[in-house]
Amino acid sequence: MTATICGTGSFIPSYTMDNHDIARLVDTSDEWIQERTGIARRHIIHGETTISMAAEAGRRALENAGISAEEVDLILVSTISSNLLLPCAACEVQKELGAKNAVCFDLNAACTGFVIAYNTAMAYLSGGIYRTALVIGSESLSNLTNWKDRGTCILFGDGAGAAVLQADGSVAEGFMGQGGNYIPVTHSDGGRGGALTCKSRHDFNGLTDEKQWNDASYYMQMDGQAVFKFAVKSVPEAITEVLKLNQVNAEEISFYVMHQANRRIVEAVAKRLGVPLEKFPMNLFEYGNTSSASIPILLDEMNREGRLVKGQKLVLAGFGAGLSWGASIVEWRR
Ligand code: COA
Repeated sequence: MTATICGTGSFIPSYTMDNHDIARLVDTSDEWIQERTGIARRHIIHGETTISMAAEAGRRALENAGISAEEVDLILVSTISSNLLLPCAACEVQKELGAKNAVCFDLNAACTGFVIAYNTAMAYLSGGIYRTALVIGSESLSNLTNWKDRGTCILFGDGAGAAVLQADGSVAEGFMGQGGNYIPVTHSDGGRGGALTCKSRHDFNGLTDEKQWNDASYYMQMDGQAVFKFAVKSVPEAITEVLKLNQVNAEEISFYVMHQANRRIVEAVAKRLGVPLEKFPMNLFEYGNTSSASIPILLDEMNREGRLVKGQKLVLAGFGAGLSWGASIVEWRR
């Protein structure tokens, strides 16, 4: 079987915080944030939840694909910030959408999450196990953000993006790339995980609620420079590896849809690969880093703007906590 993306959707909360709002909370400035990150504002939940955003992004993706909720066999939600531990976010999305035939589970691979969720769904579809999958990245990082830490609170935002994947019934012959299913490249290095951490509030360790709310380890903590160095080295390596593995030339790739963390990271990756920056679409100016939601939100914007044309090859590339990173080739056949 081969499989392809046949619809996308996203949901962005309407409430925004710009850099001037952040500068009222910590010692920073719009100029500093824009220069170091390229981020101007971020959208923050105001009544919405990780699950409600996931459901709305999923609904929009199904509408875009022209596929009914009953046709969905698999719902996969990538998130590190669900408002519920049980049931999983994917089961809640199933309930919201009425996708009663789907099997549902969540996946946590931080900012690499959407790429790994996409690969997981593709493996099920190309193995002939399921025919239609709804893959969602949804995050309310504002709940995990330490609004007193200027090293992190300038970076993150909330939102959700989704893609519908469907097996097309044809058989991929021989080398996987020829059938439209490409072999992905993904890596993890738990040994370097200390660069980006956040303790679960369930690891309360005898602390009272008040102490926990004031303990920085229960919010995202990051060695910014270490993560920056990791990203600008690992992402180009993974992209080079995935192209080589699938015998695809860099010139054949129309767009590199990268996790939206920092403009300087995207620029450095483009430079290392020797690829023009125009092939690296960006929307982090508006949303900041939305973790596993950033790639599907960007993909949905490009789809709805008509920038994606049948036959184009794209690279999806993610990186983040774990540490984890990876790249996948997608052929746009919508
Ligand atoms: N506003 C103003 N000054 C700030 C600041 C802020 N928000 N944050 C840090 N600074 C200061 C530091 O205290 C330091 O001051 P000093 O020189 O007096 O000690 C100076 O700015 C430089 O700090 P540094 O940490 O070297 O900045 P940087 O250029 O590395 O930028 C990040 C910091 C966080 C923007 C950058 O490291 C980054 O984006 N890293 C990757 C993070 C990321 O993408 N994480 C998610 C991955 S999924």
